Amino acid sequence: MTFVYLIVIIISFIILGIVAIEMLEDYYFDKRAHALTEEGQKLNNTIIDYLNRKVNYGTLKNELNSIEKFLNAKIWLIDKQGYIYGVSNETEGNWIGKQVSTDDLVKVLKGDVMVKRGEYDELFGGPVLTVGVPIFVNGIVVNGVIMHSPIYEIDETLNEIYKIILYSMVISLMIVLIPLYFTSQRISKPLREMNKITKIIASGEFEKRLNINTNDEIGQLAKSFNNMAGELEEIEEKRRGFIADVSHELRSPLTLIRGYIKALMDKETSDDKKNEYLNITYEETERLSELINNLLDLSKMESGNYPLNLTTFDLNELIRRSIIKFGNKLEGKDINVEVNFREDPIYVSGEKDSISRVISNIIDNAIKFMEREDSLTILTEIKNNKAYVYIKDTGCGIPKKDLQNIWKRFHKGDKSRSRQITGTGLGLSIVKEIIKNHNEEIWVKSEERRGTEFVFTLTLSTNTK
Ligand SMILES: Nc1ncnc2c1ncn2[C@@H]1O[C@H](COP(=O)(O)OP(=O)(O)OP(=O)(O)O)[C@@H](O)[C@H]1O
Ligand SMILES: [Mg+2]
Repeated sequence: MTFVYLIVIIISFIILGIVAIEMLEDYYFDKRAHALTEEGQKLNNTIIDYLNRKVNYGTLKNELNSIEKFLNAKIWLIDKQGYIYGVSNETEGNWIGKQVSTDDLVKVLKGDVMVKRGEYDELFGGPVLTVGVPIFVNGIVVNGVIMHSPIYEIDETLNEIYKIILYSMVISLMIVLIPLYFTSQRISKPLREMNKITKIIASGEFEKRLNINTNDEIGQLAKSFNNMAGELEEIEEKRRGFIADVSHELRSPLTLIRGYIKALMDKETSDDKKNEYLNITYEETERLSELINNLLDLSKMESGNYPLNLTTFDLNELIRRSIIKFGNKLEGKDINVEVNFREDPIYVSGEKDSISRVISNIIDNAIKFMEREDSLTILTEIKNNKAYVYIKDTGCGIPKKDLQNIWKRFHKGDKSRSRQITGTGLGLSIVKEIIKNHNEEIWVKSEERRGTEFVFTLTLSTNTK
């Protein structure tokens, strides 16, 4: 950045210098040509007097001489054919009698002032400013005055100006470099820090944050960066927690199974006991494989590339079948089941197996957390062009502080409360994920010791069979 700034400043000064010098040069030559022209025109009368022989060549030459000294210019007088007949200083060359180059002549003898810059026929050993002025008698051109003024003095002036521009450029650069240094530090320091922190975070230290509190774009970038780091930290925490949960869930049944197998290997264990232990180990392995299947299903659903196989089905019929499936469990606890279909049938669109899983998981929970002779009420209705399912139990209810967490993986409520109740804590996570994939909603109302009600929506099918 500093480099770019420096280049810009230098280029600006170069452009400024070139323009200033061009303008100065033009101004200088204009002035000089003007002065020479004026002096040339002043010669008009003396030359006419000389042509009329009122003054002699000596007087004329004296005047030419003093002008030469005054203006530092060599002066030639030319006749109508362009031949030089008078010069300001004879000692400096044998110009008398020579003819001036015709181009200049034409202009001057036509009555115009001629101004020319550069080498004049290489006569003066360097560039000169040449001005030609016509001499009139009664409005007719009779002679011309040609004046050559060396331009080395302008070169000196310009050199001075070059120096001034160069000095001011160096001074400006020095003045600019200080704020430039601080500005670029202000930008590059936080960027360097960001770079450092990014590497640290990438290496796994997610709690690192940037300490930049400016209000500019860099500050905003730092804020976004910190937010991102926060989210990464959260994800990382979830991941660690998840692995810990899974390991824990896998370890307890495995420990149990190992204990029973050890007992089975013991020669002193009776056959009856062996049979009992085998049954327990079998159940535990079944639980394990269910846990793993549930985990796999969840991760498949959460990964997002889980296409729904949408069909149209009767929601009420699906609920009837679910209740039949739970017949034994319901009877075992003497649960009083009440079903109320406000409309029948209700055709909805969804993935039938998944919705069946949602209903089963909720009913399963309800049965699990109900006492004997509690009641389960299931109601369906159509409201605002949607199907609503209400599943309500009169079980133990969910404490307020737990309500937020029941959807989380492995959440199993109060340990003491659910001591005798088996479960992996994945049921409601799967329910939530299925409903989310259907773009539907689910919510829960619960009061401790009074009961729980789950409500979810489904989309009505447009092609009712
Ligand atoms: N109807 C309910 N009454 C009281 N508590 C409930 C009810 N439904 C869910 N909960 C609470 O929410 C927790 C999470 O339920 P979830 O279905 O996710 O897991 P789980 O039933 O313990 O295990 P899984 O369903 O995997 O066998 C339960 O452990 C329980 O504490
Ligand atoms: Mg459950």
